[in-house]
Amino acid sequence: MAIDENAVRRALGAVTLGGTPLPATGRLSAIAIDPAGRVSLSVAIEPAEAGALEPLRKAAEEAVRAVPGVTGAFVSLTADRPAGAAPPPRPATGGPGPRPAGPPRPQAVPGIRSIVAVASGKGGVGKSTLACNIAVALARSGLRVGLLDADIYGPSAPKLFGLSGKPNLRDGRLLEPLEAHGVKVMSIGFLVDESSAMIWRGPMVTSALTQLLREVAWGELDILIVDMPPGTGDAQLTMAQTVPLAGAVIVSTPQDLALIDARRGVAMFQKVEVPILGIVENMSSFACPCCGTVSDVFGKGGARREAEVLGVPFLGEVPLAIGIRELSDAGRPVVAFGEGPQAEAFAAVAAGLSARLAAGAGSRPGPRIVIE
Ligand SMILES: Nc1ncnc2c1ncn2[C@@H]1O[C@H](COP(=O)(O)OP(=O)(O)OP(=O)(O)O)[C@@H](O)[C@H]1O
Ligand SMILES: [Mg+2]
Repeated sequence: MAIDENAVRRALGAVTLGGTPLPATGRLSAIAIDPAGRVSLSVAIEPAEAGALEPLRKAAEEAVRAVPGVTGAFVSLTADRPAGAAPPPRPATGGPGPRPAGPPRPQAVPGIRSIVAVASGKGGVGKSTLACNIAVALARSGLRVGLLDADIYGPSAPKLFGLSGKPNLRDGRLLEPLEAHGVKVMSIGFLVDESSAMIWRGPMVTSALTQLLREVAWGELDILIVDMPPGTGDAQLTMAQTVPLAGAVIVSTPQDLALIDARRGVAMFQKVEVPILGIVENMSSFACPCCGTVSDVFGKGGARREAEVLGVPFLGEVPLAIGIRELSDAGRPVVAFGEGPQAEAFAAVAAGLSARLAAGAGSRPGPRIVIE
């Protein structure tokens, strides 16, 4: 059943902010309606308003959900205005509006014990490959594991896990994750084709990410691995602000340039007070499959040294190996099928991560957001 966007707007008019109907506040994003009848939109806020406006967010979702034809509603609060830009408009009429209630506290995701982001400053260093393999390694060690592919622009999880097909909708609102190698997986790649994924922008990225995290029937998980897109932009900041991250794992290759980007990644998470659980050096040495000669294609040990300089743990090295690339491309994570040195390298990183979590590395009070 086609959904009338105006009907959605009318429904949102019943929700008020400081006495002003939401659509008249100038804070609403475009309304996105997907073919399955799911409606997403965001409300622009000041970072400090997040706590106080949570009831408004919920009320807006309820209102949209009641519109005929709507199968799911997702409203997010976004504070992605650049630093120094004008604040979002205040309600034109009515009272002063809700006051900030101190620093925003990211809300826990019910059922999920630890959420760990796998990130890097630079693209193509092997985040997704590592995220997938450590998720599988953790699942093989007996933990209940999920993987959230947070790369809206270039989702990798469907290919890496060899998964295709659309997730089912539970009770008309929760997406069922797909499952492979013992890991529950959710990715925008299951929901939209690649060409549509490319046109997501700003607030929609934020909405989509929050939806992929919170509107999914993850069930009970010991750990949710989040495969981040490259860089230190909106998606990372959104995650750090809205998800109670236990911490972040930074992936780097050994070259100086990648290490500079890794440093930037570390700094970004530290700025939003997300603990760095460790740095991993990927594409370390290369063992020639023909003669066995080991060469350090990009140098070696750079990430370990960088970790020392930054005062963060070093979680291990993963060799550059053709087998890793080939198995990844075939949707067969090397950890799930091989017992050789490559699988062991990933398993060692996973074990180090799990030990750090068990030691309480990720426990901390809710982060204080610092926007500069
Ligand atoms: N240790 C490795 N040995 C061989 N190939 C690897 C290794 N790690 C990753 N690759 C390959 O490098 C390419 C990039 O890896 P991947 O997609 O995991 O990087 P990424 O950091 O997630 O990239 P993006 O920034 O685009 O998300 C892939 O083809 C992958 O198979
Ligand atoms: Mg990736």
